[in-house]
Amino acid sequence: MTDQLKIVTVIGSGTMGNGICHVFAQSGFQVHMMDINQGALDKAVATIGKNMDRQVAKGGMTEENKAAALGRIKTFTDMGEAVKSANLVVEAATENVELKLNIFRQLDKLSPADCILASNTSSISITKIASVTGRPGKVIGMHFMNPVPVMKLVEVINGYATDAAITQLICKLSEQLGKIPCVANDYPGFVANRILMPMINEAIISLMEGVAGVTEIDTIMKLGMAHPMGPLQLADFIGLDTCMSIMNVLYAGLGNTKYAPCPLLVNMVQAGYLGAKSGEGFYKYTAGSKDLVVSARFKSKEW
Ligand code: CAA
Repeated sequence: MTDQLKIVTVIGSGTMGNGICHVFAQSGFQVHMMDINQGALDKAVATIGKNMDRQVAKGGMTEENKAAALGRIKTFTDMGEAVKSANLVVEAATENVELKLNIFRQLDKLSPADCILASNTSSISITKIASVTGRPGKVIGMHFMNPVPVMKLVEVINGYATDAAITQLICKLSEQLGKIPCVANDYPGFVANRILMPMINEAIISLMEGVAGVTEIDTIMKLGMAHPMGPLQLADFIGLDTCMSIMNVLYAGLGNTKYAPCPLLVNMVQAGYLGAKSGEGFYKYTAGSKDLVVSARFKSKEW
């Protein structure tokens, strides 16, 4: 059934985009990675190579398979060229509604009429994205988790008009990538972020109210709940701007003040403390160091 899907175009070469290219290429698909900036594409291919090296070092992949997988990835800066022969497009651009709607308008014009258009959005409505295309039945959410090569889940999101056959095909495809698909319907935050983000937000409220410090909150959730990362470390890993924007989608879409982003989160985003990607959030990050160091701002109770 998935034989018809041979060429997959991924729009965006950031963390999620390059992870998605990685797993498709590793699973034998021809991958067209598209970004507006050739420098970003070159960096993404280098990142995929480094992440595949980890798999080679752990015995999960041979050098030969790595070279073959990298050989299946072509880079493009022109969207028309990247999608003209695609069977599936997975959009993984920045999480911005207008940007995504604009991309889908173009994808609808430039890709073959039978091409499936998927979005890796973490919270933007699939129904809204589908509404700007002439093929809403073929528009679907394919929400991968970070780090994509490691995390088993693909949250498959049905838009209001998504065809059942397309949902089935995307579930089969996810299995072919070695992932486990779970289907959710299109309501704010779907399932993953409807549940994850309020937990992260509550951890930040607990910190703001002085219930406990950064280390204590994260340690309690790691050791007590067997989470691989505490919620504050996870917020830094995801990006505090992304966390805030998802909380705003939940707040606007569900109309309940329990989803309002914590004022401390808002302050940190406004000040540019976005987590790992900006070098500081709840923790301070130094290139090349794996040590988890709490930001000086949260070290004393008087912060
Ligand atoms: N590519 C390939 N392999 C990778 C990798 C990558 N990008 N990142 C890590 N790995 C591999 C490592 O090589 C290692 O492999 P082995 O198990 O074979 O040794 C393994 O993953 C574990 O990595 P590390 O030893 O470096 O570190 P760790 O044990 O601390 O695990 C982690 C790192 C997998 C990120 C783990 O901390 C974790 O699971 N954290 C939670 C991640 C999470 O919750 N992700 C979801 C975020 S929410 C989201 O993505 C959606 C959204 O909409 C916001």
